[in-house]
Formats: sequence, C-alpha cells, structure tokens
Amino acid sequence: MLNTPIINAVERYLGENNSPFSMPGHKMGRGFLKYKNLYDLLLRGDLTEVEGLDNLHNPEGAIKESLELLKDFYGSKKSYFLVNGSTSGNLIMIFSAFKEGDKILVERNCHKSIFNGIILRKLNPVYINFKINEEFNAPLTLDKEHFCYELENNRDVRGIVLTYPSYYGTSINLKEIVDMCKERNIKVLIDCAHGAHFGVSKLIPENPLNLGADMVVMSAHKTLPSLTQTAFLHINNNISAEDTDFYFSAFSSTSPSYPFMMSLDFSRAYLEEDGKEEYEKLKEECDYIRGKIDKLDLFKTLSSKNLKDKSIIIDPCRIIINVEKEFSGHNLLKYLRKNKVQVEMSDESNVVLIPSPFNTKEEFEEIYRVLERCNIEDIKSENNKIEVVSIPDLIIKPEEILTMGKTSVDYKEAEGKICGKNIVPYPPGIPLIIMGERFNKRIIEKLSELIEDNVTILGMENYKVWVVK
Ligand SMILES: Cc1ncc(COP(=O)(O)O)c(C=O)c1O
Repeated sequence: MLNTPIINAVERYLGENNSPFSMPGHKMGRGFLKYKNLYDLLLRGDLTEVEGLDNLHNPEGAIKESLELLKDFYGSKKSYFLVNGSTSGNLIMIFSAFKEGDKILVERNCHKSIFNGIILRKLNPVYINFKINEEFNAPLTLDKEHFCYELENNRDVRGIVLTYPSYYGTSINLKEIVDMCKERNIKVLIDCAHGAHFGVSKLIPENPLNLGADMVVMSAHKTLPSLTQTAFLHINNNISAEDTDFYFSAFSSTSPSYPFMMSLDFSRAYLEEDGKEEYEKLKEECDYIRGKIDKLDLFKTLSSKNLKDKSIIIDPCRIIINVEKEFSGHNLLKYLRKNKVQVEMSDESNVVLIPSPFNTKEEFEEIYRVLERCNIEDIKSENNKIEVVSIPDLIIKPEEILTMGKTSVDYKEAEGKICGKNIVPYPPGIPLIIMGERFNKRIIEKLSELIEDNVTILGMENYKVWVVK
C-alpha cells in the first residue's frame, strides 16, 4: 500500500463535497468536457517544447497564434499566458512598470503578491484606504475621497495599483479613477484576478483594458474553465513590451505546463464563442437564487437592489450571503460545508460563493435548501464582532524591515510594536498588517477573533508574530 496523504485527502474531499461554489471555475473538470477530448488531453498532453509545440518564452508557432487571439479578444497591445498564477502577473506588472524608489499609490486591500512586489522592487507605497460598507459590514470598495486626497497630495507618484473587482465582486467606478490618473500621466495597474469574464456581456462589468488601464492581470482559473495556477497578463498604452518580456521570462517557469496552456487557450476560445450566452445564463441563475435567499429571514444577498449605495459596481455572477450582527459569516461557512456546499470564503458577516457556468441548476437549488434548513443556533456568533479594522500606521518602509533584526512575541503582547512579517488571513489573502506597520489594539482583537473562528492566518505560528527588535 503506497503512503499518499495528498491523494487520500483529495479523494476524501471529492467524496464529501458535492456542491462546488469555490474556485476553480472548471468545477472538477466539468468545463473541459465542453471541448471534444480536452479532458483526456489534459493528462496525455503534459508534454514539453517538442517539435510543433512552440515555446512560451519565444513564441513563434501555436502559442504565438493563441496569444494573438487572446490579445484581440481582450483588446490589449500584447498579452501573455501565466503559468505561475496571478501572483507572478502582479510581480511582472510591478517590476515592468516601476523602478526602484518610485512612489506609488496602492489600494491597501490588495492581494499579498502586490505587497511582495512592492517590497522586492523597493517602491515607496502610499496606501489608499478601503471603505467599509455598513449594510454588509465589508470592505466593498476603495475609499474614493482618500484616493483623491492622496492623489492631490502626492504629485510625484508614478502609478497606482488597484484591485478590480474585490473578492466580493465589487468596485467603485474604475473609469473615473483611470481618467483622473491619466490626466496626471500616472500608470494604472489593475489586479483583475477575479474578473477574467468581465466585458463578455453588457450585463457584467467592463474589462479594465476597455476602461483605459495600462496593465491588467486576470486569473483564468478563478472564473473561467481553466486549470488552477493559470492566468493572463495584458499590457496596453505606453507600457514597454521589451521590459515586460524580460520580467515575464524572469518570473515564469522554463518548463511551462502544456495542460495549463491548453486550458488557457480553451478558456479564451470558450469565452469568445459561448461566453456572452453562458455568463448571462449564469447571471440569471444567480439572480434567481438571490431572489429566493432574500426571502429567508436569516439572510440577505449582495445585489444592487439590496445596496443603498447605487454607485457600487457589482459582478452579478458572484453570490454574497450576508447575516445580521448577532450571527457569524464564519459559522455560516462551517454550516454550509457540513452540508456539503463548498464556498470560497467567509468574513464576520458574509460568505462568498464563486459559481461558474459549470455549476448545475440542482446545485443552486441545493444552496437554497440548505439555507432554508439553517437554524439560529447554527450561525450564532460566539464572540463580540469586531468591526473590520482600518489600516494601521506605517512607521518603517516595508523593504527596510527585511534587513532589520526581528523577534517573535505572543500576538497579545504585540501592541505598539512594529510588524516584522506580514500577517495574512487566507483567503482572501489581504494582509491584516504589513511589515513596517504598528500593531494596535484593534489588530490584536481582530487576530483573537480570527483565531476563534479558525481562519487560516499566514505569518503567525503558535500564536506568535514577528516584530522588529
Ligand atoms: C485579488 C487577487 N489577486 C491575486 C491573487 C493571486 O492569484 P493566484 O492564486 O492565481 O496566484 C488572488 C488569489 O486569490 C487574489 O484574490
């Protein structure tokens, strides 16, 4: 008997979960059944750069042709296939667009890969606050007023890095932000990891390239039928293709997976051919189930109908289920998982579901049935809900922390100390505190709450955090 803990875990998981509302978008391979023999090719076609298969680092044949189709579909100046996730795309964007020491504006609610890029490229970041939407107790958008303030007061910024859309599928009006940046000649880099399907229909938010963004990263695996780890990078306007080519090569494996590239090729073709119809159908399915969930006493879903702030842009292909203050989003996630509905993420007040066109009608109905059976006891909050915390003060530039002496302390004793290693609840992968920021009371309370809710926290071991000596 072979000892295979990972294989055993995957087999167990597949046996136990039958409603997949988390990533990836192909939903356990179903998406690949759409194309002739792709399901089978994904394993047999795990080849290398042999005759006729082209080379991702020097595309001249099939890969070049597929990249041209990708560029034309999304409307970029040049596009790339990424085999190391949007994580590598964010690093490539930051390295290509900025030089050491550049000052940039960054949404503080970005994914950790953006902050890693900033540290490695030795940039000088000015963080833009997020805005807590009180109705959903969640950071749905950037704080536009704060953005305008920092833009006005930092005339020397070279660029801005934004997430569009958020994990909740939400955003402020990106076009307005891009236009303001363009007036100042500021580069706009967009982490669109959750929006590879954007622009495919008028009923879904616009693709950021069409709104004027200079560089855009999209995770194909999150919302399209593509293998995990696959993503697209697009460049536009005056971004140098030569610089981007260099960093693309530096941050990408020299053994890119053909199954990954086949699934990227397929997901673009699928979007082009069937995307409008398929994502409109998905929106309809989501609208239908949102309408039913909204009639239940315990829950409310995120939709333009349920949001007072009509300026917020919403991806209708995402389902966010909200609970009142006395209940817990984390407990709702546990309850759904116990009932074999696998969701993507929870916070104090919400769970996030990422459906795709490959979820069945029956699976949507199942969410409703499980929610209908839910009792107050199942989702009651056991602790005092801490409001989403605001950004801690930045005391030392993150890049300087790398070379400073650090020590680990119990997190409860960290108040007033400078953070030496990013602390990142995962998902969503947005740092709660970044190295160089000062621990305050609310961050520590928030950590206690996350621990009680069994949230995975990167950067913390045995209740200890790293601080500057
Ligand atoms: C907004 C955002 N950007 C980037 C990433 C990283 O993407 P990947 O896991 O494809 O590297 C994630 C992952 O969840 C994300 O949510």
